[in-house]
Amino acid sequence: MPELVSHDVADLSLAATGRARIEWAERSMPVLRAIRERFLAEQPLAGQRIAACLHVTTETANLMRTLAAAGAEVTLVASNPLSTQDDTAAALVAEYGISTFAVRAEDNETYYRHIDTALDAQPTITMDDGCDLVNRLLSQRPEQAGSVVAGTEETTTGVIRLRAMERDGALRYPIVAVNDTPTKHLFDNRYGTGQSTLDGIIRSTNVLIAGKTMVVAGFGYCGRGVASRAKGMGAQVVVTEVDPIRALEASMEGYEVLPMAEAAPVGDIFVTVTGNTSVLRREHFEAMRDGAIICNSGHFDVEIDILALEKLSTTRREVRANAEEFELADGRRIVLLAEGRLVNLGAAEGHPAAVMDMSFADQSLAVEWLVANADQLTAKVYDVPTDLDADVARLKLASMGRSIDTLTPEQQHYLASYDIGT
Ligand SMILES: NC(=O)c1ccc[n+]([C@@H]2O[C@H](COP(=O)([O-])OP(=O)(O)OC[C@H]3O[C@@H](n4cnc5c(N)ncnc54)[C@H](O)[C@@H]3O)[C@@H](O)[C@H]2O)c1
Repeated sequence: MPELVSHDVADLSLAATGRARIEWAERSMPVLRAIRERFLAEQPLAGQRIAACLHVTTETANLMRTLAAAGAEVTLVASNPLSTQDDTAAALVAEYGISTFAVRAEDNETYYRHIDTALDAQPTITMDDGCDLVNRLLSQRPEQAGSVVAGTEETTTGVIRLRAMERDGALRYPIVAVNDTPTKHLFDNRYGTGQSTLDGIIRSTNVLIAGKTMVVAGFGYCGRGVASRAKGMGAQVVVTEVDPIRALEASMEGYEVLPMAEAAPVGDIFVTVTGNTSVLRREHFEAMRDGAIICNSGHFDVEIDILALEKLSTTRREVRANAEEFELADGRRIVLLAEGRLVNLGAAEGHPAAVMDMSFADQSLAVEWLVANADQLTAKVYDVPTDLDADVARLKLASMGRSIDTLTPEQQHYLASYDIGT
């Protein structure tokens, strides 16, 4: 048996299953595959060392294969202790020779030890999903920042943290906010989180969505997706918001809009997707119905105040995989899914591959663009160049067998002029 790359994964005997699932996901990732074929021929990342802190899923595995095909040396660690698919991690090591350090349900200490291992590889590029890798690098190893050329960030919460760093002058190298491209937040956050959040709720409870009242906290990109999918399955959807414009939009979409204090006693299922902290807390648990199901699909496990729920409860026990029941002093029960971590990744498989195809195409092209343009960039948060994102959308449409119109010369002239009136 050839010598394996360095790794820490749960069980290498799962590699064959992982490989089969990675290849299955690849079938729905034609854009990434086309990029991988070009990268293999052109080697745009030759000599780069990439540390990637991403959810270790089959889709991410295909991104890692793309980066490795481009000539980069890649180390992958988890961006959430509960989202790792152990068979995928095993396949990355044993089938594709990609250094991977991720074990599902690893404790906090192991999670950060793995991030440190990725940093030990002296990366020239960082790829993050939630900014834990960059945060660790800048806070614990600032001396290493000088050797990093650039980075990318995948999610809303990570971009918020990076922009705060930029404002404070703490950011040390350029980072592209992949999250902020239309092909990411319009499709991944909305359609991906929408479908996979419902999938996580159903897998962990087998509850019938039709006829239930589902409370969605946060009507951002993710919240819109969750609300529309729940409505499509027959739920009555209540939205809670703090932003008046988004609350108005939810109202015009036909959802009931309530403050959480009023939603708590009427909801059957609660989903938080705000990127904020303590959205569901003591006063809400005290008002909930017996059997209420609560879960989170926002990035960090801070949206539900689990400590407060524990304090109110006399017992906490697992009732199904990824579902724990808390019994309150008065006998009411509240069911928490996936420990309050991302329910779509903890209790289901994350976004479908067809959605990640676009986000990861953006990631790959963003890394290529960063390496090619690094000498002109400074320590700021950059958007993905618009033409690059349009290319991804064009490739996706082509892969779906759809084509669109192009502007005629007359239309181009019309749109560029101001002298033609009534
Ligand atoms: N589950 C996933 O796979 C997945 C995918 C993408 C993003 N995310 C995460 O989901 C979260 C939301 O992302 P987004 O792109 O929808 O962000 P967004 O900024 O578009 O939306 C968040 C919404 O929550 C609202 N909000 C904030 N505090 C609130 C409160 N206390 N009560 C009610 N509403 C409140 C905001 O006004 C905003 O409209 C982030 O943490 C992001 O990183 C998760």
